[in-house]
Amino acid sequence: MCGIIGYVGNRPAVPILLQALRDLEYRGYDSAGIAVLDGDGVSIAKKQGKLVNLESALSNVPAGTVGIGHTRWATHGRPSDENAHPHASCDGRTMVIHNGIVENYASLKEELSARGHAFRSETDTEILAHLLEERIREGADLFRALRETARRLEGSQAIVAMSLDEPDVLAAARLGNAGGVVVGFGNGETVVASDLAAVLPITQEVAFLADGQVARVTSGGIEVATVDGDPVRLERKRIPIDPVTALKGQFPHFMLKEIHEQPEALADTIWSLATLDPAALYFDDLGSAAARLAQVERVVLIGMGTSLHAAMLGQRYIEAFARVPAFADNASEFRYRDPVLDGRTLVISVSQSGETVDVLEAMAVARAAGALQITVCNTEGAQTTRVAEGTVYTRAGLERGVASTKCFTAAVVALYLLALRLAMAKGRVTEAELAGHLSDLAHLPGAVATIIARRDALRGRAIQLARAEHVLFLGRGLAYPVAMEGALKLKEVSYIHAEGYAAGEMKHGPIALIEPAFPTVAIATQHALRSKMVSNIEQIQARGGPVTAIVTEGDDELAALCDAAIAVPPVSPWLEPVVAVIPLQLLAYDVAVHRGCDVDQPRNLAKTVTVE
Ligand code: F6R
Repeated sequence: MCGIIGYVGNRPAVPILLQALRDLEYRGYDSAGIAVLDGDGVSIAKKQGKLVNLESALSNVPAGTVGIGHTRWATHGRPSDENAHPHASCDGRTMVIHNGIVENYASLKEELSARGHAFRSETDTEILAHLLEERIREGADLFRALRETARRLEGSQAIVAMSLDEPDVLAAARLGNAGGVVVGFGNGETVVASDLAAVLPITQEVAFLADGQVARVTSGGIEVATVDGDPVRLERKRIPIDPVTALKGQFPHFMLKEIHEQPEALADTIWSLATLDPAALYFDDLGSAAARLAQVERVVLIGMGTSLHAAMLGQRYIEAFARVPAFADNASEFRYRDPVLDGRTLVISVSQSGETVDVLEAMAVARAAGALQITVCNTEGAQTTRVAEGTVYTRAGLERGVASTKCFTAAVVALYLLALRLAMAKGRVTEAELAGHLSDLAHLPGAVATIIARRDALRGRAIQLARAEHVLFLGRGLAYPVAMEGALKLKEVSYIHAEGYAAGEMKHGPIALIEPAFPTVAIATQHALRSKMVSNIEQIQARGGPVTAIVTEGDDELAALCDAAIAVPPVSPWLEPVVAVIPLQLLAYDVAVHRGCDVDQPRNLAKTVTVE
């Protein structure tokens, strides 16, 4: 949460900072601000609301070539001009931007106030500017001042600071898991940002700070040390860039564009991990985890939100194919409940960003217990990939819409293949069976493309659902996580209250809600539990509840039973979740557009959740 950018180089900083903030705005959009060193002074501009407010408020654009910028998702202090970052020290010479929470904020504020510091905002971030000011006044350079300040902070933080006392230097720190800090090395210019989206338009040569590291950033590169001052050498990487995925193109919203990208994202993910002829799996990034898979006796899958729903499907694939007990858990619960883990437990974390704080903290718990870890991640070099022994990259390309779509389906197929990989290691799947599974997968991108091409036919349904105040999503078996995901998509982009339930749970309470104004969406494709779903649909209809069903093409009997039916092409039952979720994504999108909601930047949300 919060987007951070710092630039030190040879070009005017303002246009670069603003472009980076546009690329980072999905991380938070309560307010935005920039500070640029300009001659002997500093120009600071901050505005509540979306970035566009800041852009229209910028009258005099300073020509300085060193600056920092921030787009905020509020934690301490409401969204306002005063609380927007950057924050300055009392003497106005030191400026900071920040992502995270200073947990000992109250005691530090009391201490600083007692020493005469005056606070101009309600944020915890401002503490950092005052602490840095004190260190610099005592004679520390910015780099040392930030290391010393870092040692006083509790909680997870990503920080970038600059000072008029060293006008050609930025200092950046990563402490814990408040989001990444990536450094980009250009030609006579260096950038530091909270994620790759802001760096890749400038350079593909990058390095990532690890927990507890602080960098001195100049136009010529970086010097890195731990908070205790021990020097660190960072490994540089070249990140491939796909400029097309970063732009909206002909689409009005990133969410719609990313829904349309799914056939390609699925194909890229599948064929980066498998071949059809010969039928084989290639997990090049499993590292030392590969050799230990045969010893795995239990699997725990962790994730949050949409990624948790993918993990729930992964659980079902692993149990079915590898016959290893598997359990999917919410990472924010897992991390606090002292889970039973050992060296024969495989923990699979699912995270599109690879930076979600609860996932990273849960991984720390798993690491301390000696569990083997694999992460399923869409972001090259993200923190989860550095903590886990092995990585399975999804190849969905950059996802910019706050509501995750293509990363969900890409994670589901990656987990499907990982389950098969585990099954091979355990000797539970024959080569002929593997060939069958891969040939089923080969049809999937085409089936998804077919559904997307029928979007116009769904619009009428969306207009009707847009009038509802509440919507229930029901599924059984593999369709249960799909019901959860359908409900999450609808609520986050359209603000309609929606719940995803296991259909069998209906009679244990939720059925009391059913009445004519309470529509249900039932995921009732041809899976083994279809007949049970039919009973649930009939029970809802008997109580006057309208039902829209997701059915398999040709299932006219079920289509006729429901108030409306959305047909999806037949695929292997294991892959039905991937086709069934596509109309739910499209429905959520069209409902939200119909209701005039901000689809790509829903209220209160941010793409990467780096605070608890
Ligand atoms: C919903 C959505 C979120 C994320 C969740 C985890 O559309 O995108 O629920 O899935 O915040 O994020 P990652 O996958 O980055 O760990």
